[in-house]
Amino acid sequence: MASVKIPPRPGSGQADNQVTIRDRAEVTAFLAGHGIEYERWTPEHPVAPDASADAVLTAYAREIDTLKARGGYATADVIDVKPETPNLDMMLAKFNREHWHDEDEVRFIIEGRGLFHVHPPAGEVFAIEVEAGDLIRVPRGTHHWFDLCGEKRIRAIRLFQDTAGWTPHYTESGVDKGFEPVCFGPAYVARG
Ligand SMILES: [Fe+2]
Repeated sequence: MASVKIPPRPGSGQADNQVTIRDRAEVTAFLAGHGIEYERWTPEHPVAPDASADAVLTAYAREIDTLKARGGYATADVIDVKPETPNLDMMLAKFNREHWHDEDEVRFIIEGRGLFHVHPPAGEVFAIEVEAGDLIRVPRGTHHWFDLCGEKRIRAIRLFQDTAGWTPHYTESGVDKGFEPVCFGPAYVARG
């Protein structure tokens, strides 16, 4: 289940003003207010941690077909990273600065966790921590950036209208530098 955190303004010193939403209906409504679609889909097909991308796509073919039909997506692939993935930092560095795409960013998380920061055109940056079972669609043009959580593990199905449209366009605003890429899900809470 995703959770959403509205962080304090960087440098405001108002750390206790941050609000974390964990209720499913509240999360869905908050994100919908920013044009972001959110649903829970059960990742019900067991896929071995070392399975190939093709094996993942085959296991989830039914869900992928449903999403393609619904959203007009032409292709799907799998992002599958773990701490030992070669050049992981270089790969992540492409997406951890504020950027936008010419098409939607659609992810169905089937393992692991990740952290989106979203910067609305008129409003404060908020963070969405996604985990297995989360289906999220960040609309084209939305300013955002993405980080992995501490365990550096995510496996997600990505859907594209046209893969060429998914090139990141960097805003170079520097806004991302004011936010720590720290996840805040159940594991964080458990550590107190
Ligand atoms: Fe992106």
